[in-house]
Amino acid sequence: MKERDITKQEAKKEIEKLRKEIHYHDYRYYVLNEPVISDAEYDKLMRRLQELEEKFPDLVTPDSPTQRVGAPPREEFGTVRHAIPMLSLSNAFEENEVYEFDRRVKKGLNGGKPEYVAEPKIDGLAIEIVYEKGVMIVGSTRGDGEVGEDVTENIKTIRSIPLRLREEEIKAPDLIEVRGEVYMSKEEFRKLNQERERKGEPLFANPRNAAAGSLRQLDPKVTASRHLKVFFYGVGRVEGIKFNTHWEILRTLPKWGFMVNPNIQLCPDIEDCIRYFNRISEIREELDYEIDGVVFKVNQLEYQRRLGEISRSPRWALAYKFPPVQVTTRIVDIKVQVGRTGALTPVAILDPVEVGGVKVSRATLHNQDEIERKDVRIGDTVLVQRAGDVIPEVVKVIKERRTGNEVKFKFPSRCPVCGTKISQPPGEVVARCPNISCPARLKESIKHFASKQALDIEGLGDKIVEALVDRGMVKSISDLYRLKKEDFLKLEGFAEKSAQNMIDALERSKKTSLDRLLYGLGIRHVGQHLARVLTEHYPDIESLSKASVDELMQIPEIGPEVATSIKDFFSREENLKVISELEKLGVRYPREKRQVEGKLKGLTFVFTGEMDNFTREEAKRLVEEKGGRVASSVSRKTSFVVAGKNPGSKLDKARGYGVKIIGEKEFIKLIQQ
Ligand code: IVH
Repeated sequence: MKERDITKQEAKKEIEKLRKEIHYHDYRYYVLNEPVISDAEYDKLMRRLQELEEKFPDLVTPDSPTQRVGAPPREEFGTVRHAIPMLSLSNAFEENEVYEFDRRVKKGLNGGKPEYVAEPKIDGLAIEIVYEKGVMIVGSTRGDGEVGEDVTENIKTIRSIPLRLREEEIKAPDLIEVRGEVYMSKEEFRKLNQERERKGEPLFANPRNAAAGSLRQLDPKVTASRHLKVFFYGVGRVEGIKFNTHWEILRTLPKWGFMVNPNIQLCPDIEDCIRYFNRISEIREELDYEIDGVVFKVNQLEYQRRLGEISRSPRWALAYKFPPVQVTTRIVDIKVQVGRTGALTPVAILDPVEVGGVKVSRATLHNQDEIERKDVRIGDTVLVQRAGDVIPEVVKVIKERRTGNEVKFKFPSRCPVCGTKISQPPGEVVARCPNISCPARLKESIKHFASKQALDIEGLGDKIVEALVDRGMVKSISDLYRLKKEDFLKLEGFAEKSAQNMIDALERSKKTSLDRLLYGLGIRHVGQHLARVLTEHYPDIESLSKASVDELMQIPEIGPEVATSIKDFFSREENLKVISELEKLGVRYPREKRQVEGKLKGLTFVFTGEMDNFTREEAKRLVEEKGGRVASSVSRKTSFVVAGKNPGSKLDKARGYGVKIIGEKEFIKLIQQ
């Protein structure tokens, strides 16, 4: 249709159609994660809508998709009074407190039998949005629970939030106030901080602060750029529809287009709630967002009413929190540790504390620059953090707790173990001990060489390695294979049998493979993956040791830094000597027969949940033996997601991308084909 021809009447019709389509595609993309049109097609719809709205500005309505980022910056936020106060949750940290909660609930119900709904407790910030006749009216933060800030324009920029409720399955109620948690995904948080670091802007301490900072922006365009997300978990006032249970609410919200967490569960009793907590604790790290615990809510709304609230928390709900991952403690000393590559790492020796369920008595301070930047001193009270499996680190000093007796740390100029002068090329943050015979370096190299992924010398633990080096019984990696049973018997804790076991383990480890050996040698930048890549291009150590930097850089995954490091390693006489001695002592390392031509060639697998018949490592090996690949996260390129018991969020992602999901049985069939 030619533009000059279009009448207002026709424009109105087309605008309505476009809005409906765009709302639908937003829902498919942001809520279901199942887009049905390309970005380009979507943009085309949006552009056409903008064009028509520009032509007929009086046809613009607040729920038009064009209004998501249309609002100009504000001077300050208005306030919104919550019709029903937004309460907080009482917390439990121990299992007995959960049982205590269940007893209180049952007592309050005088014999009524409660069911519970269990949900992840999302670490973000709470919002409430009011919809009248299905249209978004106002959105606000929780504030003090009674009054929050009007962040409507910012909330509109969150694409998964409907501006108008979907009514395909259920009619929108006359009035509904929905409540949920706005959060920033871990991935988005990483990207945002990287970007801020590049620009020299202060970093956000965690995704929650980043989400709060992003939602409370006076300019909605900034909020829009932060890609916030939301999970809805409840309602405030509701008119025009009656719910009987909380579960019913959580099942209905998605029908109106709201995102509800996929890991919610209906639990018939409190024991089931505890099992839920254990399951969620296990998959916590796999989730793409941070949670700080789980929430249990009495399912029956009538029971909720009966139980009421106490000191601003409902008696019918409980947050069962994970042990804190950030705690404060005191630094009693700072020591410098020497790593395998000679890197010197300052480590804070702490008054032991429990962080996230693990006893911690050391935390890394990374390097000298970090100590100075954070102004860490011996005697300081500090905040220590442990995230996932990573080494605990000192986050910041609590300066208010200083007494004046704290001592500044002086970084040594010589290696604390062998006394060699430290080298630190200008511009590098890491100081190193350049002495390759430094006993500290040797100990770390041997621990690495013996580790499971390398030569897998069973039973050769850290303590034994340290004793062997300290007593001068092992002066290089190859000396390990010169050890006799009598040598082990000289060490504390060894008896005839255990010494023989060590000898047997050493003997077994001699039959290894090229990639394991390459990894075990500890060449800088050569991890397990690169070691495998190298074996795909070089049949043996000899050919690899002769490769030039340029030649190595022909391999797509190898850049100049890695290539130089490999070249350097093989140009050192002492390294070549170790390799030839290993050979003389009987270590054999054929190139592993990689069945790249196997049945699973070109296929990528992702595992989630527990399997009955294999550990993850075993499953991975099976796939790789058949030429397939195993990835840790789902992408559009994933061929199969193998779902075991209690699968995690990877399953939802797989559904979103339309990736084929198979169970353990099908997986077994596939590998047996
Ligand atoms: S229910 C009366 N459910 O936790 C119940 N809250 O400490 C009120 N939160 O302000 C909240 N995930 O910001 C509920 N699944 C969930 C939640 C959740 C996170 C936050 C929310 C609330 C705070 C209460």
